[in-house]
Amino acid sequence: MLKQLLRSSIAITLLVLVAACATPQATLYQRLGGQTVVETFVSRTIDRSSTDERTKRSFDGIKLAPIKASIVQQICSISGGGCKYEGETMAKSHADAKIQPREFDALVDILREEMDRAGVDAGAKNDLLKLLAPMKRDIVHAAR
Ligand code: HEM
Repeated sequence: MLKQLLRSSIAITLLVLVAACATPQATLYQRLGGQTVVETFVSRTIDRSSTDERTKRSFDGIKLAPIKASIVQQICSISGGGCKYEGETMAKSHADAKIQPREFDALVDILREEMDRAGVDAGAKNDLLKLLAPMKRDIVHAAR
């Protein structure tokens, strides 16, 4: 009796494990909310960054639509959305602006707020921020 109970509970555990493994995991891109949500928070982040006192300097005279499209493509690419990022490297595209650490941090703060406003869940938001954080060393101007 006990043996039978043990056997069936092992069988159930195995079944649950197999089912869990067979279920496709959502990509980070899906967890962020997919294309519409990513487009929304990127667009608002760039609009705000181009007018915010802390960050607007670098956006002076720059067309915003192409940057927005490029960042959406980049986020889609790094979060498993199946896009190919075709823009410049982070080092090359930010070199002229000589971006300071506080400007980088301010833009990331705006991005965080806009992900919240777009309803992105906290786990997905932090996972994306973790993927973007290492880019700081290429984007911020190194004092030489
Ligand atoms: C994690 C942070 C950031 C990411 C992921 C990011 C990403 C990008 C991408 C993908 C592009 C377009 C490159 C291309 O199409 O070739 C771009 C351009 C640009 N970014 Fe950023 N960026 C970040 C931080 C910043 C910050 C902090 C600033 C300024 C405060 C900034 C200002 C700009 C400007 C002005 C351009 C246009 C450059 C040009 O066309 O000459 N970015 N960024």
